[in-house]
Amino acid sequence: MEVVHTVKALEELLQQPRQQGKSIGLVPTMGALHKGHATLVERCVAENELCVVTVFVNPTQFNNPEDLRLYPRTPEKDYELLRSIGADIVFVPSVEEVYPEPDSRVFDFDQLDKVMEGAFRPGHFNGVAQVVSKFFDFIQPHRAYFGEKDYQQLAIVREMVKQQKLPVEIVGVATVREQSGLAMSSRNQRLSEEEKEHASEIYRIMRESTLLVEEKSPDQVVRFVIEAINNVADLRVEYFGIVDGDSLQPISAWYDSENIVGAIAVYCGDVRLIDNIRYR
Ligand code: PAJ
Repeated sequence: MEVVHTVKALEELLQQPRQQGKSIGLVPTMGALHKGHATLVERCVAENELCVVTVFVNPTQFNNPEDLRLYPRTPEKDYELLRSIGADIVFVPSVEEVYPEPDSRVFDFDQLDKVMEGAFRPGHFNGVAQVVSKFFDFIQPHRAYFGEKDYQQLAIVREMVKQQKLPVEIVGVATVREQSGLAMSSRNQRLSEEEKEHASEIYRIMRESTLLVEEKSPDQVVRFVIEAINNVADLRVEYFGIVDGDSLQPISAWYDSENIVGAIAVYCGDVRLIDNIRYR
């Protein structure tokens, strides 16, 4: 496994495999890797001749400087994990390497980035699109792997690829959870054991809510979930929406769509967690 820090070194490593027509898979990450990331990398290793992982805490997608500062960083542990899975190249650039000059590109995702995370984290998805499009450009992967844990991010990356007609297949990977049901996240490292226990109520309550679709309207289920989670110590819901899984717009009746997802953001103490669940 090669760890490289510059675009030049990355391109040198990619030159030969590209000429040989090898399939290239990409897993973009911000590091502090856990089993969720590992699952993406395992898929990437299994399905491509060359697996490239990026580890880069992208400043342009953080709308809160404190969140950026506190974002966990565990590079040596990350490399060890990636080596054990069989990743071929790990690209760990500096901010200057990715953004030699400020990236002023503004992406238009129509309604997709106006709701949920987009509404509460202004500019977040523009930053995600900037960095993902840069990595697509540097690496030119045949496939790129993203977790369903970040459901809206996956939808936006798919939309960007569609808009720009990029020759990359986007592969969505199911959310990996702790035994308690808590979605794995780098941010969980900032939770105490007690907070983790409370945070596991998020998924438990969302699951319980999927059993209510026969008797309650989407609006009523939304209220049930918000109220139940807000009643758990340490937890405060920022938003919960039941939306069409493609357009991400709220639905008002269960028959509105064949593809229905509930997406949530919850503060546990001062740590912001997101998760989602399928209703249909
Ligand atoms: P990061 O949060 O490090 O996540 C990297 C990838 O791992 C994302 O595609 C995310 O959806 C996936 N992932 C995280 N937790 C997961 C889990 N529990 N189960 C399955 N997949 C999981 O998402 C980002 O970084 C950044 O926004 C990035 C795309 C790298 C752009 O900077």
